Formats: sequence, C-alpha cells, structure tokens
Amino acid sequence: MPSFRQTFWKYWYQYLSGRIGTDAVTFLNYGYWPPEGETLPLDAQDEINRPAIQLYNYVAGTWPLSGKNVLEVSCGHGGGASFLTRYHHPASYTAIDQNPKAIDFCQKTHAPLNINFRIGDAQALDFPENSFDAVINVEASHCYPDQGAFFASVKRVLKPGGRLLHADFRPRDELSQWDNDISANFQIASKTDITPHVIRALQHTSNRIRDLVHQLTPKVLHPAMEAFAGVEGSSIYNSFVNGERVYQSFQLVKPA
Ligand SMILES: C[S@@+](CC[C@H](N)C(=O)[O-])C[C@H]1O[C@@H](n2cnc3c(N)ncnc32)[C@H](O)[C@@H]1O
Repeated sequence: MPSFRQTFWKYWYQYLSGRIGTDAVTFLNYGYWPPEGETLPLDAQDEINRPAIQLYNYVAGTWPLSGKNVLEVSCGHGGGASFLTRYHHPASYTAIDQNPKAIDFCQKTHAPLNINFRIGDAQALDFPENSFDAVINVEASHCYPDQGAFFASVKRVLKPGGRLLHADFRPRDELSQWDNDISANFQIASKTDITPHVIRALQHTSNRIRDLVHQLTPKVLHPAMEAFAGVEGSSIYNSFVNGERVYQSFQLVKPA
C-alpha cells in the first residue's frame, strides 16, 4: 500500500499540474545561479527559464551526455528533458514521473523532441538492468518515501561505470542518512553544497513566482504555495539562508 508521503506528493503534483498545466511552466525547481562570469548562453525562448535551466546544466554538466542513453527520473513538466536533449545531445532520452497529468503535458508540449515520456515510480524503475549510461534526478528524491529503494533501483538500470547525476535538498539532520543511502549503492565522484547558488536563484525568481501563485491559486493557498515555491521571506527560503536546509549536487558512479 502506498505510504501517506507518496500519496501526498502524488496528489499535490497532480493539483499543481492541473493549475499550471496550461501555462508555460515547464520547470518545478528552485533553480541555480552560477558564480559571476559563468554565464550560460541560451536561446531567447529559454531565457524565461534561465534559473531552472542553470540547475539542470550544473547537475548534468559534470559528465558529458553527448551520444549517451539517458533516463530522467521525476521529470515533472519536462523542461529539463527538453533543455538537455536540445543542448547536450544524448543519443536517446527517456523520462518518467509518477504524475500522469505531468506526463500527458510533456507528451503534448515536447512532442517534436523525440523524448520517451512514461509514467513510473522512482523507487521501482520498470526497465531492464544495465539499460542506461546516465540517470538524471533533480529536486525530487525528498518526495520518495523509500530513498534507499530509489538509489538501488537507479543502480540496477545503470550500466557499470554509468552515472547518477543527482541534486536535491534535505533538512540538515537528514544529511547523514542521505549519505548512507548513496554510499550503499554508489561511489561518490563529486559532491557539492550548492545552497548559496540556489538562494541567489530564488532571489532572481521570487517576483515572477509570487505573481504566478497569485494568478493561479486561490488566496487561501498563497502562503503555503509561496513557501513551497521558496519565494524570498518564506519558511523554506529562510531555512536555506539560516542553514537548516542544505541543497547538494552529486555525480555518482555505479561500480564497474
Ligand atoms: C519539484 S518537482 C521536480 C520536477 C523536475 N525534476 C524539475 O526540476 O522541474 C518533483 C517531481 O517529483 C515527482 N515525484 C514525486 N514522487 C515520485 C515518485 N515516487 N516517482 C516518480 N516521480 C515522483 C513529482 O510528480 C514531481 O514531478
């Protein structure tokens, strides 16, 4: 039987997709703002999503995806899948999410890109073992009730030597459990605390996100939605600033 945590996130994201699925919202993450002088060149149409794209570019950019078979776990509205397919040129790109409304949105919105979008559960990936060169996972693993099952499932579908390019946040007191779940399955090629860069991205996006929240959701939900979206001054934003929550990016290797 699915846990409360899994059921909560399932219906929360279906609700969100229902509210924003007709808008041009193709990312559901807090974003990343690089150090001064490291500007990512983007086509004009992608500028609106610059902070969210920069997060994908940072996480995936630690390992070349060109010519590789890539799986994304928890693709949301598919903005990351679209960006990586167009700018990083993998041989194939498959993307799963447990939210059927998000997958339906992705199949319509990103149809020309030849991405294989499917419904799936991150904790029980429905692919043969040793199928992929790389797995991308951005800002989603905190939703999974069984994070150990997620890492074990990714390890099973990766080829030996393949990479899990993974980023997410946790409360500070859950960091050692996160490390343990990772170390049980992978070698850590790199691990970086990117919290300051996420805070800078939130400072860039807060006005736009606050306007979207006010346009798309009933007033009674505004405080909860603003906190969820991490706008400046919200409880989640403050928890990054005061160090209670930490955002990390990893390159993880399946042992050969
Ligand atoms: C914060 S959003 C991130 C989406 C996307 N990676 C992005 O950065 O735009 C988290 C996503 O995780 C998905 N998710 C939550 N639990 C899941 C599970 N057990 N299996 C697959 N996807 C899940 C949600 O449906 C949602 O699309």
